[in-house]
Amino acid sequence: MSTSDRTGPDRHADVLVVHASKAGGTAGIATVVADELRAQGLRVDVATATDAAADDVTLAGYRAVVLGSALYAGRWRHDAVRFLRRHAVMLRGRRVWLFQSGPCGPDAAHQAEQGAAEPISVRRLREDIDADPPVTFGGVLDPATAHGLARWMARGDLAGDHRDPERIRAWARTIAQSLQPVGHVSP
Ligand SMILES: Cc1cc2nc3c(=O)[nH]c(=O)nc-3n(C[C@H](O)[C@H](O)[C@H](O)COP(=O)(O)O)c2cc1C
Repeated sequence: MSTSDRTGPDRHADVLVVHASKAGGTAGIATVVADELRAQGLRVDVATATDAAADDVTLAGYRAVVLGSALYAGRWRHDAVRFLRRHAVMLRGRRVWLFQSGPCGPDAAHQAEQGAAEPISVRRLREDIDADPPVTFGGVLDPATAHGLARWMARGDLAGDHRDPERIRAWARTIAQSLQPVGHVSP
C-alpha cells in the first residue's frame, strides 16, 4: 500500500481508499476522503487501483473499502474495474463505497448532484458485491497540464477544477458515521 498510518506491524487500517486516476483529479478526491476519514478517527490506507489490484494484495483486515474512478468516455479506468473483479469475493464480505469523478464545466455541480450514468461493467460487478451505486463528484480539466484530447477539451468552458471539497468531505463523514461503533463520539 502506498500510504499508511500504521504504527506497528499488527495494527491494521480500518479502511482502504483506492483510486483510479489518469490526470490526478480523482487521486485528489481520494486524498480528501482519506483525510476526512482520519479526522473522524479511522485508520486509513490509500492505494492506486493498479497497486491494489495486484495479485499479492489482500483486503483481509480492512473493515471497509472506498473505490473511486475517473470517468473517460462514459467508462471507469480499467484498473478500477479490475480491482472490483479481482477482489469480488473479499469485497462481498465488507462495507464498500464507490465514487466516480468526471463532470466538468458550468453545469458540473448539477450534473454531479444528479449523478453521471454508471458504466454497465461497473453495475454488474457492483451488484455482485451488494454495494450501492457510485456517487458522482465533479472533475477537473487543467489547461496548464492537460495533454491530447484533454488539452483540446480544456480550451473551452469545461476547463477548471469542478471538485467540491465540502461535498466530498460530507460524503466521507457519512461513511465514517456508519463505521463507528454505536455510542462512539467523534473527536
Ligand atoms: C478524453 C476525455 C473524456 C472524458 N469523458 C468523460 C465522461 O464520459 N464523463 C464525465 O463525466 N467526464 C469525462 N471526462 C472528464 C474527466 O472525467 C475529468 O477530467 C476527471 O477529473 C479526470 O479524472 P483524473 O484527473 O483522475 O484522470 C473526460 C475527460 C477527457 C479528457
